[in-house]
Amino acid sequence: MSILDTGVRNVRNVLRYTVGEGALSDLPKLLAARRSEGTGSVVYFIDEFFKGKPDIIAKLGISPVDETVFVPTEDEPSTESIDQISARLRDTGFAKPSAIVGMGGGITMDVAKAVSNLLTNGGKAEDYQGWDLVKVPGIYKVAIPTLSGTGAEATRTCVMTNKRTGLKLGMNSDFTVYDQIVMDPALTATAPRNQYFYTGMDAYIHCVEALAGSYRNAIGDAYSRETINLCRQVFLEGDMMSPLNRERLMVASYLGGCAIATSYVGLVHPLSAGLSVVLGLHHCVADCIVMRAMQPYYPNEYEEFWRMVEKQEVAIPEGVARGLTDNQYEQLYASTVIHQKPLTNALGENYRDILTKEKVVKIFKMM
Ligand SMILES: [Fe+2]
Repeated sequence: MSILDTGVRNVRNVLRYTVGEGALSDLPKLLAARRSEGTGSVVYFIDEFFKGKPDIIAKLGISPVDETVFVPTEDEPSTESIDQISARLRDTGFAKPSAIVGMGGGITMDVAKAVSNLLTNGGKAEDYQGWDLVKVPGIYKVAIPTLSGTGAEATRTCVMTNKRTGLKLGMNSDFTVYDQIVMDPALTATAPRNQYFYTGMDAYIHCVEALAGSYRNAIGDAYSRETINLCRQVFLEGDMMSPLNRERLMVASYLGGCAIATSYVGLVHPLSAGLSVVLGLHHCVADCIVMRAMQPYYPNEYEEFWRMVEKQEVAIPEGVARGLTDNQYEQLYASTVIHQKPLTNALGENYRDILTKEKVVKIFKMM
């Protein structure tokens, strides 16, 4: 029997969402109902990018009983950093806030998810790395994406690296899914262009991988196809950051997140994870770097991807995995082939016969 499942089992989606320019202004109203229950406080996780944007922070309705945590984004979340943040919140009287808000890109949204689970479940973040290990619902949580593409606002996981074990794996659980999302395309207007592109491509790549896989179902396919359609409009028609395209990409990100909740990724993500674990590259830029070597595997999408890069005049780093040590190549290989499910989806159950160590090293050197 395969380790993959083509059936779609009782999927949990985000409970509620708002979409549209100015949607952020509704946040205080959405939180008011939660504040009337429990301690009344709200913990806000905000991408530190917004530290210098008081006009946006002012819309969040932060009150004196609340706590604000600015999330640095140089490093992706680790189990250790999640443990530290949770311990600090417990020590400062925020063990049971009425709500948690995560405003930012994938990193910030994932930190908010993980802390929400940890505050109610206790223990350490690494205890919940895996599938369905979270026992009770987390703190009620709201996502406000400020970059579009990862789908973190829609998925049932929150990616964390365990530095002790080298494992990059999230808390895959229904309890990880956000209760509410607020999608306000005005928030992506100030994103750096390259970052906006890399992140948007994460949604495109998720769905390209899903549709090229062997384990498919009608709903996953439907989400994937529409995500790709929207990405084509955003990245091939006019400026990717026009108001209309920012709204489209925000929706593509959400639908792309729903797509991967019902299907599997393929070859790009395991290779990208290798780049993140071994070289510390961020997920979305790593995805784009991997596309340098994907012509044999996804020929049409390879061509389309590079057309998008050219059209939007963005820069994709090159040569990041050339001239490394044998030990580094060994680690790159190990941290790629460990991703059994996506690789089986892409290449079949005997994927290790195709992805030999020599082959994997050759692929990395092409990047
Ligand atoms: Fe991704």
